[in-house]
Amino acid sequence: MPQAYTHTFDTPLYKGSVTINIGLFIDGKWVDPVDGGDRIDVVDPCTGKVITSVVGGTSKDVDIAVAAAEKAYKTSWGLKVPGSERGKLLAKLADLVEQHGDELAALEALNVGKPFHMAKMIDIMTITVQSLRYYAGWADKIQGKTIETNENKMAYTRHEPYGVVGAITPWNIPIVTLKIAPLLATGNVAVLKPSEVTPLTALYFADLVNKAGFPPGTVNIINGYGSTVGDAISRHPSIRAIAFTGSTLTGRKILKASAESNMKKVALELGGKSPTIVFDDAELDQAIKWASGGIFSNMGQGCVAGSRIYVQEGIYDQFLQGFKKSAEVLTDATGGPFEPGAQHGPQVSSLQFERVMGYINSGKTEGANVLIGGERQGNTGYFIKPTIFTEAKADMKIMQEEIFGPVCSVVKFKTEEGKQVTEWANNTTYGLSANVLTTNVARSIRMANNLEAGSVWVNSGPVVDMAVPFGGFKQSGNSKEFGQYALDAYTQVKAIHINIGQRL
Ligand SMILES: *[C@@H]1O[C@H](CO)[C@@H](O)[C@H](O)[C@H]1NC(C)=O
Ligand SMILES: *[C@@H]1O[C@H](CO)[C@@H](O)[C@H](O)[C@H]1NC(C)=O
Repeated sequence: MPQAYTHTFDTPLYKGSVTINIGLFIDGKWVDPVDGGDRIDVVDPCTGKVITSVVGGTSKDVDIAVAAAEKAYKTSWGLKVPGSERGKLLAKLADLVEQHGDELAALEALNVGKPFHMAKMIDIMTITVQSLRYYAGWADKIQGKTIETNENKMAYTRHEPYGVVGAITPWNIPIVTLKIAPLLATGNVAVLKPSEVTPLTALYFADLVNKAGFPPGTVNIINGYGSTVGDAISRHPSIRAIAFTGSTLTGRKILKASAESNMKKVALELGGKSPTIVFDDAELDQAIKWASGGIFSNMGQGCVAGSRIYVQEGIYDQFLQGFKKSAEVLTDATGGPFEPGAQHGPQVSSLQFERVMGYINSGKTEGANVLIGGERQGNTGYFIKPTIFTEAKADMKIMQEEIFGPVCSVVKFKTEEGKQVTEWANNTTYGLSANVLTTNVARSIRMANNLEAGSVWVNSGPVVDMAVPFGGFKQSGNSKEFGQYALDAYTQVKAIHINIGQRL
């Protein structure tokens, strides 16, 4: 029998005990891996100490989960269940997440190291609850089309589920509903692997799935490493589609695994190196706040992080002064997730800490100037000071590669004309998002048209909305999350031709 783990929070911001199962969630039950599996330590990024260790599965457990999912799909889910029923369960799950928002947020804050109030407000109450409610509303509105061709034919389309869909979710916002909600709304069943770095909220969430009344096997959650469980999901012959959020490197592996196995449909939401472009005519204090939130929120651990900041020369000095100040304020507000007033926490793991420090050191070695930060904070945990580089060149690693930490470069540009800044902004292998700050409407539209990015935010930082599609160009991805567009990742279109008059 898999064990449970109870964490007792006794903090100024949250007090209470939260219990999770640490096993594998298959067919609505908690089970152990069939052949021992792995034990994976879950680490508190503020201290580097182990919180607990959870069970990790192997490819054999994936096989069992896929069989349970197939059975559920055939007997108690899919198009057998009216969309309105699927929607009702999703809405109920949303209510349950909301009711247990504190417990989920506490686990998330503990595991990722992000401030408790941000975990609650953004990860749980906004992204998790809203995605469930939003796709609950879509569940009974999945429609095909009737297509007029000629008088001898009737043609129509059906948007059918794939059946068993794999999902692999990231550690930076380790909520699973961005995949699960549209996946279930469209009638699919899930075999999901959360990040092995931050599995705690997914384990808590699994019990809520049962409580909401989903038929056993509709959602299966298998913890484990990418090289075992992730690879098995990516290669499984009975999994027809897979949705992944994470690094471009892993996205490439999944595409390859799909190509080498059953060519399952692959929906990828990958990395970024997003530009923030500030024009002379921008509202200065707003530009500083959006740019600062755009790179430093969640400790820079966001695919949309605005890590290349291009500022027009007329406003450059003032911007830099204010932007530096914002980093100072944040540095002073560094602390653990349950410290009142803390706004900046640690990087998620020692691996990420080392990676980010490696980029900071490469920036220094390649000759960029550290305006502020550029070092770790304190001696325990994985805290890194918000870091701003200036004098960075386009070919430096810090300008080309995704750092996934609180590190950015500010670069001066002259004019919009000649598209110099557009070319600079476009000049990476990524194309996830871009931010443009200007009070000139025509300019904002020109920039939005010319930037190679899946999302462009004007006079804002990257703030997603459940109803608006999100997903990258170029090597930032090949699919859309959020909005009606996300339904495309989870449905396949069947065309039916009915001959009503042609005779041979
Ligand atoms: C684009 O980036 C490369 C480095 O990857 C650099 O050598 C080149 O000068 C850049 N081009 C422009 C137009 O900025
Ligand atoms: C984006 O910039 C690249 C150069 O880095 C250029 O080749 C491309 O044409 C630009 N895209 C647009 C739409 O202007």
